[in-house]
This record gives sequence, C-alpha cells and structure tokens, in this order.
Amino acid sequence: MALGAPIVLRDGSRVRIRQGHSSDKELLLRGFERLSDESRYRRFLAPMPELSEAMVRDLIDVDHHDHEAIVALNAETGEGIGVARYVRHANRPDTAEVAVTVLDDWHRRGLGTLLLEVTGARARKEGITNFSGLMLASNREMMDVFESLGPVRVVDRELSTVEIEMPIPEVGVSPGLRKLLRVAARHDVAVPLAGRDGMPRPAPRA
Ligand SMILES: CC(C)(COP(=O)(O)OP(=O)(O)OC[C@H]1O[C@@H](n2cnc3c(N)ncnc32)[C@H](O)[C@@H]1OP(=O)(O)O)[C@@H](O)C(=O)NCCC(=O)NCCS
Repeated sequence: MALGAPIVLRDGSRVRIRQGHSSDKELLLRGFERLSDESRYRRFLAPMPELSEAMVRDLIDVDHHDHEAIVALNAETGEGIGVARYVRHANRPDTAEVAVTVLDDWHRRGLGTLLLEVTGARARKEGITNFSGLMLASNREMMDVFESLGPVRVVDRELSTVEIEMPIPEVGVSPGLRKLLRVAARHDVAVPLAGRDGMPRPAPRA
C-alpha cells in the first residue's frame, strides 16, 4: 500500500496519510487542542479537558503489529487532522479495537472513512480479521463510517454506549482507492478520492 502520497478529498482539500510513530507527541497534542469538547467526549466516552502524560505515552506507543496508528496530515500545512488506531485484543489475537478521530473542521469530507479503510488494510496485514468498536449509542457518524467498511454486528448495548464487531473485508483498501494510491505514489500527484459508488465526488456546494 502506498502511503504518504497526497490524496484529494471530495471537497478538493489535500491530505497525506502515513503510519504514526513514537515521535508524534507534539502532533497529537496540537490536534487534541483543536478538537471540540463534543468530539473529545465521543472519542473517549468521558469529559477529557486534557490528555494525561500516561495517555499520550500509550497513544504514541505504536509497534505496527499489535498497535497501529494511521495519521492524516493537512498536505498544505503538515498539521495533524485525523487519526485511526487499532489495538489488538490480548485474549483474541484476530480482533482489535479500533477508533477514529477527525478534527471537527475536517468532518464530512470522507476522511474518517478513508482512515478506517487504510487501518483495516494495515490490520489485515498483521493477521487481524475483525474490528471491535465502542462508541456512544448516539454516534451515528461513527456507525456510518463502520458500515461503509462492511456489515456491522452490535454485540453489546449499555444505557449510552454500543459495542460493535465487524469482519475486516479481505480487500481492505477498495480496488478503486488502491489504484488511486498507486497512481499518486508513482507520480507524486494529488488524485481525487472516489465516493462509495466508485465515482469521484464533486465538491459540495457552499
Ligand atoms: C466519527 C468521525 C470519525 C467521522 O469522521 P468524518 O471524517 O466526518 O467521516 P466521513 O466524512 O468519512 O463520513 C462518513 C459518513 O458518516 C456520516 N456522517 C459524518 N458526519 C455526519 C454528520 N455530522 N451528520 C450526519 N452524518 C454524518 C455520513 O453518512 C458520512 O457519509 P457521507 O458524507 O458520505 O454521506 C468524526 O465525526 C469524529 O472524529 N468524531 C469524534 C470522535 C469519534 O466520535 N470517534 C469515534 C470513536 S470510536
């Protein structure tokens, strides 16, 4: 999979996708500062005014096997604008918990879906065939992102949260996206990101 090449989202903005690494502390903290209270709550299922040192350490402690992070950068500024990560379950090595976060002003451009798709492809390469996810029951946006990858099964429902599991599709990155990423890597050019129907999306009208 070709990562690092610029990709054009459906509204025309350009992003770069790469694996996370242990030197991403500043990137992570700057991104967290820009995340709304609502998005923080949705991601961590609790009020999260700041990230503790221990949490930051855990979030950047990726080994690219049991714990992987896929980071999206604004291709123009280099700022971090989104991240998806999986952490393998200790007692079920074929399953990993996945979570996606996109900065609020980047929502609804297809970035969450792209990050989950790329993370699914990475997970598959490391022998993970299922994702689990825990989210607020009201988080329709995240459920939609999961469902865009494949069929989702609700395995537990609490008062305000829902836990899902889903098989990661064999293909991982869809053939259309894979082709676009390959083309982008070869020529280092920005390519439009296709919509779910495989057709390039026009930029939404203001
Ligand atoms: C969930 C989240 C990652 C989605 O990111 P995103 O980049 O906006 O996702 P996409 O643009 O790929 O949207 C995917 C689909 O979700 C739905 N969706 C996204 N935002 C929506 C909104 N505000 N209202 C209604 N539907 C929405 C749509 O169906 C959308 O598909 P479409 O725009 O092609 O119709 C983002 O909202 C987020 O970071 N939320 C806070 C953190 C969080 O909740 N994480 C989940 C923890 S498991």
